[in-house]
Amino acid sequence: MTVVGAGFYGSTTAQRLAEYDLFEKVVLTDIRDGWAEGLALDLNQSRPVEGFETRVVGKTTGTDGTGYEVIEGSEIVVITAGLPRKPGMSRMDLLGMNAKIVRGVAESVARHAPDAVVIVVSNPLDEMTTLARLVTGFPHQRVMGQAGMLDTARFSYFVAERLAVPVGAVRTLTLGSHGDTMVPVPSACTVNGTPLADLLDAATIDEIVARTRNGGAEVVALLKTGSAYYAPSAAAARMARAVAEDSGVVMPVCTWVDGQYGIEGVYLGVEAELGAGGVRRVVERDLTDSELSGLREAADAVRAKAADVATL
Ligand code: LAC
Repeated sequence: MTVVGAGFYGSTTAQRLAEYDLFEKVVLTDIRDGWAEGLALDLNQSRPVEGFETRVVGKTTGTDGTGYEVIEGSEIVVITAGLPRKPGMSRMDLLGMNAKIVRGVAESVARHAPDAVVIVVSNPLDEMTTLARLVTGFPHQRVMGQAGMLDTARFSYFVAERLAVPVGAVRTLTLGSHGDTMVPVPSACTVNGTPLADLLDAATIDEIVARTRNGGAEVVALLKTGSAYYAPSAAAARMARAVAEDSGVVMPVCTWVDGQYGIEGVYLGVEAELGAGGVRRVVERDLTDSELSGLREAADAVRAKAADVATL
């Protein structure tokens, strides 16, 4: 198990994975000299207190790919490398910078962990997932991106707060892209099994949907430097866990959609069943006409950018 990039997102992901106490070893890498080693040492020193045996191995890597021998044998690689947004930036503003970073990482992953399942979290998410697939040359089912679990978690939290119910009572769903064409799916949302539309009026649902779509930017605006990482890392770690346990859990992820929902050949947020080989299958559900057209618009938007990605 490897996490590439030891910023807040990467280091909290590594922490969550280690604390699952499921893996023999979690490798954490970073390009800052000594940073990953330092965090690994600190995390290992938390083991006697928290009571987990997973060893954390930190490694400084070079942009030329030096150091990546450390990921050999990793069955899962989470790529968090890249810059986060600053206030006022959209995820798309990161495209050029992060494409260079993700390309270099993906080349090293392909070289040293050629059988790995790759989970991309770098932004802009759908485009960076597309790029990682392209550069590694891995089968599509072995390269996916994290977004839907995070966006869904935000949606669920907002609903739970509004209705003053436990988060565990709420089921929500978002599909589409991790950006402006995110598609929250109110028709799939329930609270203790009751449809959301029976509990909240349309205007309130719209307001929550808008806040969900803007969920990442809301945190960025408050932090002023860096972007969210607690909810994002929780989402990425759960995906890795589903792969590690070959669990067959169905969750919203950014995966290759080819024919489902009448959409051809594009990385997009949909529900998928995860297992040891990555995505076992895309799970389609009935959508309302407007949800379906939202999903198709999202596909067109990602496809338009994906064409540029190959040249970055
Ligand atoms: C967010 C970033 C991580 O949504 O994409 O917070």
